[in-house]
Amino acid sequence: MAYSDKVVDHYENPRNVGTLDKSSSEVGTGLVGAPECGDVMRLQIKVNPETQVIEDAKFKTFGCGSAIASSSLATEWVKGKTVSEALQISNTDIVKELALPPVKIHCSVLAEDAIRAAIGDWKKKNNVAETEAVAVAAH
Ligand code: FES
Repeated sequence: MAYSDKVVDHYENPRNVGTLDKSSSEVGTGLVGAPECGDVMRLQIKVNPETQVIEDAKFKTFGCGSAIASSSLATEWVKGKTVSEALQISNTDIVKELALPPVKIHCSVLAEDAIRAAIGDWKKKNNVAETEAVAVAAH
């Protein structure tokens, strides 16, 4: 199957690969897996405690090209957004941006889940009362 140019670009030059300090209270970590294929994605965010703006984001993905591209794009998109803005990123935005074919949609879902899980983790650590993200991260 042919990947779109944008997928190839992110796959060949992934943005924001790496790790943030998990023990910091400003860092939220989301670790999610896709039951369809066994691919795994870890996405971390560093949130400014005053403004709730995501100042940094890193990922590590063990998965297909679309999963790597989706997580790379997700880290680019969350940076500079507030936590609540980042929660509005949906996998359909990723599908559109990367022109993913139907069989690769679950790869983008993985990225959306990873963002939500990372935010959920950060909220839990900081006792930010909010239900949605935490609930999503829990399953
Ligand atoms: Fe499963 Fe892409 S094939 S994440």
